[in-house]
Amino acid sequence: MRTQVGIIGGGPSGLLLSQLLHVRGIDTVVLERHTRDYVLGRIRAGVLEHGFAKLMREAQVGERMDREGQVHDGFAIAHDGVRERVDLKGLTGGNSVIVYGQTELTRDLYEGRDRLGGVVVHEAEDVAPHGLEGDRPYLSYRKDGKDERVDCDYVVGCDGFHGVSRKSIPKERIREHERVYPFGWLGVLTRTPPVSHELIYATHDRGFALCSLRSPMLSRYYIQVPLSDAVDQWSDEAFFSELKRRLPEDVGAAMVTGPSIEKSIAPLRSYVVEPMRYGRMFLAGDAAHIVPPTGARGLNSAASDVYYLYHALLDHYERGDDRDIDAYSAKALARVWKGQRFSWWMTTLLHRFPDASAFDRQLQKTDLAYLFSSRHALASLAENYVGLPF
Ligand code: FAD
Ligand code: DHB
Repeated sequence: MRTQVGIIGGGPSGLLLSQLLHVRGIDTVVLERHTRDYVLGRIRAGVLEHGFAKLMREAQVGERMDREGQVHDGFAIAHDGVRERVDLKGLTGGNSVIVYGQTELTRDLYEGRDRLGGVVVHEAEDVAPHGLEGDRPYLSYRKDGKDERVDCDYVVGCDGFHGVSRKSIPKERIREHERVYPFGWLGVLTRTPPVSHELIYATHDRGFALCSLRSPMLSRYYIQVPLSDAVDQWSDEAFFSELKRRLPEDVGAAMVTGPSIEKSIAPLRSYVVEPMRYGRMFLAGDAAHIVPPTGARGLNSAASDVYYLYHALLDHYERGDDRDIDAYSAKALARVWKGQRFSWWMTTLLHRFPDASAFDRQLQKTDLAYLFSSRHALASLAENYVGLPF
């Protein structure tokens, strides 16, 4: 097979880039290791920036998001038994976020790929990029026991944190930055009305908790748990009892609980690889960087990579201008690091760290007190949460 842009990974980054390029007449092939049902079965992000939503519309896949996604003008931070609202709209001069699940967004992208006749190869085994330092790169893979090959002009690694693309770069050509947090998030999805129409991020002596949602009848809740905990240690009853203990009383009392339809633990990590390019291969999304989920930045950082890469490839194919191809890594990383800083800060502010000293704890309390005493501090939080400009 021959294509212009060979994409490894059919998650949100790979599918969005492929769809955007296709709309502008640039040919792509996406190689995805898993089945479509497997990819759609992963419950992950829920909060989208407007910049992301704009890209979905440009990719001609924004219709259902605009119909069913919920615009949120604020969220709450609960601490010491009270709930304080962060007025995103008021603090940012009119900006907000959209609550629309990653599962739905991925489904829309797959439908878009099908509608335009885009090539997405599922169950592509042993995908590997080759010839990245030359000008004739290609991808090899196996499908149904047969060896296959995709020749292309460029390779884009959109294959998440555990993918093959970043691992194909010689170690001496990259620099990795990492922080692993000593806890994870236990998440539960239930078919119940959400306890609040806006998200509640809660900080408590027992640990962090988050009340989120997907729709008027689908709730998503998280609690901070030690890394040593396993999902099957947590019955639904134990989960909700712990969640309620970390929330203000009125919130816990109003919560409707129900059987979990999904329950999983995600470890928390900050990670960035530099540069995000190796020869003719670019990295985008979780393949290049991971944030702890607290600031809802992960998927949104992936979208900004896709935005920069999409425009760089348009310039290359439509005008023969490679300046943005050459600037891709630096431009993407500048925004990635801002997302990293914000996610690290929000994680540090709201979680309980097992090894925190009395000094650390006092600083954390003061950071929270300062936040709610200063409109400037709140405005900084809001500006980052709704998404900095691309
Ligand atoms: P992925 O979604 O990881 O997709 C990569 C794809 O590549 C997968 O389909 C995988 O099967 C495929 N693949 C992997 N290896 C190979 C291979 N060797 N060959 C071929 N294919 C391969 N972000 C937010 O912005 N807001 C939130 O509210 C938010 N909440 C989150 C909550 C949780 C609990 C978690 C875990 C994450 C959250 N995130 C959030 C982060 C967000 O889900 C990720 O940033 C996003 O999935 C990144 O998309 P991606 O396409 O880059 O990578
Ligand atoms: C969700 C996840 C997040 O990480 C976050 O900050 C907000 C919402 C969610 O899954 O709904």
